[in-house]
Amino acid sequence: MSNVPKHITIIMDGNGRWAKQRGMERLFGHRAGKESVSQACEYAAEMGVEYLSLFAFSEENWNRPEAEVNGLMRLMAKAMVDEKPTLLKNGIRFRAIGDLSRLDASLVEDIRQTERDTAVGTRMTLLVFLSYSGKWDVLQAAEKYAQACTEAVLAQQPVPALTPELYASYLSTAGIPDPDLMIRTSGEQRISNYMLWQCAYTEFYFTDVLWPDFRRADFAKAIEAFQQRKRRFGLTGEQIIEK
Ligand code: FPP
Repeated sequence: MSNVPKHITIIMDGNGRWAKQRGMERLFGHRAGKESVSQACEYAAEMGVEYLSLFAFSEENWNRPEAEVNGLMRLMAKAMVDEKPTLLKNGIRFRAIGDLSRLDASLVEDIRQTERDTAVGTRMTLLVFLSYSGKWDVLQAAEKYAQACTEAVLAQQPVPALTPELYASYLSTAGIPDPDLMIRTSGEQRISNYMLWQCAYTEFYFTDVLWPDFRRADFAKAIEAFQQRKRRFGLTGEQIIEK
């Protein structure tokens, strides 16, 4: 397939509603969502996507009932164990992004171990956003820049000129291309404090499908919709043709 997005990001939404429709507790939906995660990874790697990123747990999600937060954390830890062989088999590199200082030390250790074990993967990078928010990312980047300025002043050096490129190098996604396509499931049409800086020119695709029901055919539809879009990045259509 040509013109496959290099970086696809997914806001996996609707697990709770999916469970409720079945008269089950919310964690039942999250468990079912874990299966959709594995299928989406395999499909994206097959399609030649270079980066697949998933919004798995937002900064705001810490305010959910304790049982749900704990259940989600246990599910992440289990996913690390269950999915490692598939990641290795498919040449997929795993990385977690977010404020991991808020996670249990044992989960962080599992995450770091999976990152080290899969670092050899070159086919696709899977980025899981955990304890992440776009505003947190923008703020922590500003703090890093302020720190760099302080160090420059102390060393009697000029402060680094603030450019979009320099700023992006302080974000938690430094070195990762911005998402080309953002998919959000479950009918909600908002960005929910996700990659605010990085989605400046991202194409958005919304589907009513709830995340636990999201399958290859749904993913293929999203990619096809992306391929129909005309991305102009603020230029005119004629300028894009000339490029
Ligand atoms: C949003 O649905 C989903 C989440 C907050 C959690 C996503 C987590 C998984 C799919 C589990 C596995 C993840 C990995 C990376 C292994 P919601 O609970 O907000 O649904 P609702 O809007 O219907 O209530």
